[in-house]
Amino acid sequence: MVSESVKEKLKEYGQEHVLKYFDELSEVEKKALEKQIEETDMSILAAALNPDQAASKGVISPLPCMELDEIEKGLESFKQTGISAIKEGKVAAVLLAGGMGTRLGSDNPKGMYNVGITHELYIFECLINNMMDVVKEADTYFHLFVMTSEKNHETTVSFLKEKNYFGYPEEYIHFFKQEMAAATDYNGKIYLEEKGRMATSPNGNGGWFISLMRAGLLDKAKEWGIEWFNIFAVDNVLQRIADPVFVGATIEKNCVVGAKVVRKNAPDEKVGVMCLEDGRPSIVEYYELTDELMNAKDEKGDPAYNFGVILNYLFNISELERVVREELPLHVVKKKIPYIDEKGELVKPEEPNGYKFENLVLDMIHQMSSCLPFEVVREKEFAPIKNKTGVDSVESARELLKANGVAL
Ligand code: UTP
Repeated sequence: MVSESVKEKLKEYGQEHVLKYFDELSEVEKKALEKQIEETDMSILAAALNPDQAASKGVISPLPCMELDEIEKGLESFKQTGISAIKEGKVAAVLLAGGMGTRLGSDNPKGMYNVGITHELYIFECLINNMMDVVKEADTYFHLFVMTSEKNHETTVSFLKEKNYFGYPEEYIHFFKQEMAAATDYNGKIYLEEKGRMATSPNGNGGWFISLMRAGLLDKAKEWGIEWFNIFAVDNVLQRIADPVFVGATIEKNCVVGAKVVRKNAPDEKVGVMCLEDGRPSIVEYYELTDELMNAKDEKGDPAYNFGVILNYLFNISELERVVREELPLHVVKKKIPYIDEKGELVKPEEPNGYKFENLVLDMIHQMSSCLPFEVVREKEFAPIKNKTGVDSVESARELLKANGVAL
């Protein structure tokens, strides 16, 4: 028997169909499905009927970036400030590794992908090697928080353990899981991924702070004296993590967030660019950039919206705590969602067939009171692996790794 409260909830949100196979389930499966229904936030699903709602923007104006020449001038001071903060234990890194990596198409978590050619070199290993450069420079380890999701947690944790964390001390590594969100068809009806389980997908990388907090790790971080979190994506194998110069520049400029950016290749390059929106820092997506904004010039005569974000941010913890209750926009993203069809058989679609619901870390920038866009050299710090071949792929990242002296 399905409990009354579960029935009511499904009725309220028009999701009664998820009980279609209920009678075929074992007692354990029935309990598990009821629990999943109770725990799932169905209030967000109405967004499926208005999928572009997150796109509306305020008034956009330029946000000056700290460019390479300015960084060069302040280098020694920034580095000193950054190294001191790291030595004092004020900086930690947060690896966002909860994504599904569907474009890369590997069954394993993305970090387990081997980019080596003549020897093994995993994405996780590249990231830890990059962290070790700073460990040597600052002569101290710093904490690493790793966000996984229900879909890849066990595999990620056991892989890293088996590889002995690629030489990083275990006591400095802390895992936490992000939340999941239901995945629906284009009418907002939740798919079943098994007869007794609703389809779910990680709820986007914007939930990292809340998930870290719910896991009890924010309290720990504060106990350890951490003041800054350097958030970074799993798939950029060249990125500098807890980069002392970046940390120092953000601190010296009294900003509550720093954002690493690269100069755009072309005015219409498909990256989100830094700007002010209604006077607060923000990121405008390439598809939101009007021709007028694309061609606007700053006082130096350079394009005014010329710096794209690379998902490497340094957030001040007090500021994160200040905004934690503010809601982030919900992004409704088209996706291939495996589901149980009318005949009770599992279908793995070749094309997107529904929506997943995500919060994005880039929207957190707009919650911050100040932001320092900090230019980095693309060829030295940006080698994202999104696809197997072509743009932002294993192939292009290998070339960039080689060019930076990494043996493959
Ligand atoms: P992407 O936007 O590239 O998504 O994530 P993805 O899931 O890895 O790959 P596709 O789109 O399915 O091919 C950017 C970063 O945010 C993390 C990813 O792990 C990656 O480091 N992420 C993404 C999360 O941690 N959780 C999410 O829910 C989504």
